[in-house]
Amino acid sequence: MDTHGNLIPATSGEEELVQAHAELMRHSFGYLKSMALSSAVKLGIPDAIHHHGGAASLPELLAILPLPQSKQPYLPRLMKMLAVAGIFGTAPAGEGCEVRYCLTPVSRLLVRDAAVNGGACRSPVVLVATSAAHLTASARLHEWLLQEEVETPFAMAHGGEGFFGVAGGDGEYSALNSEAKASESRREAETVVRACGPVFEGITSLVDVGGGNGTAAMAIARAFPHVKCTVLELPHVVDAVRALPREEEGAVEFVAGDMMQSIPPADAILFKYVLHNWSDEDCVGILTRCREAIPSGGKVIIIDTVVGFGSPSHEILESQLLMDMCMMVLLDGKERDEQCWGKIFMEAGFSHYKIKHLQALGSAIEVYV
Ligand SMILES: C[S@@+](CC[C@H](N)C(=O)[O-])C[C@H]1O[C@@H](n2cnc3c(N)ncnc32)[C@H](O)[C@@H]1O
Repeated sequence: MDTHGNLIPATSGEEELVQAHAELMRHSFGYLKSMALSSAVKLGIPDAIHHHGGAASLPELLAILPLPQSKQPYLPRLMKMLAVAGIFGTAPAGEGCEVRYCLTPVSRLLVRDAAVNGGACRSPVVLVATSAAHLTASARLHEWLLQEEVETPFAMAHGGEGFFGVAGGDGEYSALNSEAKASESRREAETVVRACGPVFEGITSLVDVGGGNGTAAMAIARAFPHVKCTVLELPHVVDAVRALPREEEGAVEFVAGDMMQSIPPADAILFKYVLHNWSDEDCVGILTRCREAIPSGGKVIIIDTVVGFGSPSHEILESQLLMDMCMMVLLDGKERDEQCWGKIFMEAGFSHYKIKHLQALGSAIEVYV
C-alpha cells in the first residue's frame, strides 16, 4: 500500500518471492496433508460419502461420522483442506448453497466397496505410508546420512531387525502391511495377466520369488493353466499362508526358502516389486542365482518401477521418486532408471532385456541370458 492506501503492484521479483515462500510452506507442511488424508481414511469419510449417494453436505457428514459435539466445528476445516488437495470434490448443494463434498478419482480409490474401484481400495496403503513406524523412521533420515554404520533410518528408529523383521512380526504394523500388500497385489496381478500375456507364452514353469500370499502366482496359474506356478517365500510367510483356508488349494506350490541362498529351477523366474527392496550388489547376487536356475532360452520377468520410463507425467515421476525415498528410509533398496537396471543385468551375466510399460506405476522387464 502507498501512503494513500492504494495497492502498489508487486514487481516480478516480489511475486517470485511470494510464490517461493508459498511453495516452501506447502512442502514444509506437506506432512499435514498426509495426516489429513490419513484422518479421512481412519474416520471413514470416503465410505460415508459413497454410502450417502456419492455426495454429502457437512451436516449430512456430521450425522454419519461419530464426532463428539466439541469436535464437530473442526470437520469443515479438514474437508476444505482435502478438497483443495483434490482428495474430495465440491458441488453446490442447491437450497442455501451449502457446499456438498463428493468423491474424486483419488478418493474413489479409498472406498472399500469394490464396485466403486474394481476392488483396488488403496486405504491400507495410505495407512501404512502414514503410519507412526514410517514417520519416526523418516524423521531419522539426516542422522542416518551422517552415520557410517547403521543400515537404514528404519533400523535406526525401530531396532536392528530392520523392516522385514518388524513387518514379519505379529504387531499392528505387520497386519497393516500385509493388508496393504494384498490390496495392491490384487490389482497388480490383474494388470500383469492382462498386459503380459505374450510374456508367459512358451514357458511351462515359473517361480514367483518373494511372491507373498501367492495372489500374482494364482492369477497367472488361472490365466495360463499350462504354466506350473511356485511361490518362493520366507518361512514365516509360507507358514501364515498355509494356516489360511485357500480357495484354490493345489494351483500354486509354496516353497519356504531364502532367495539369498538358492532359487528353485524354472523356465521363468518372476520378481514383482521385490528387487526394489534390495541394493544393486544384492540384486546382482540374486539375478546371478536366477541365471543358474533357468535353462538356456529361459528368462527372468521383473515387474517393478523403471523411473522416468515412458515419459511419465510430473505426478507419476514424483510418486516414483517418493517411492525411492521410501526405499531409502525402510530398506537398503532403490527405484531404478533403465540405465541402472541394465547395468545390474549385465553384471549378473544376462545379455539383453525388453521393457514393456504397464498401465500402472511400473513396467514389465524381460531379461534374457
Ligand atoms: C514388497 S513384497 C512383494 C510381494 C509380492 N511380490 C507382491 O508384489 O505383492 C517383498 C516380498 O519379498 C519377500 N522376501 C524378503 N526377503 C526374502 C528372501 N530372502 N527370500 C524370499 N522372499 C523374500 C517378503 O517376505 C515379501 O513378501
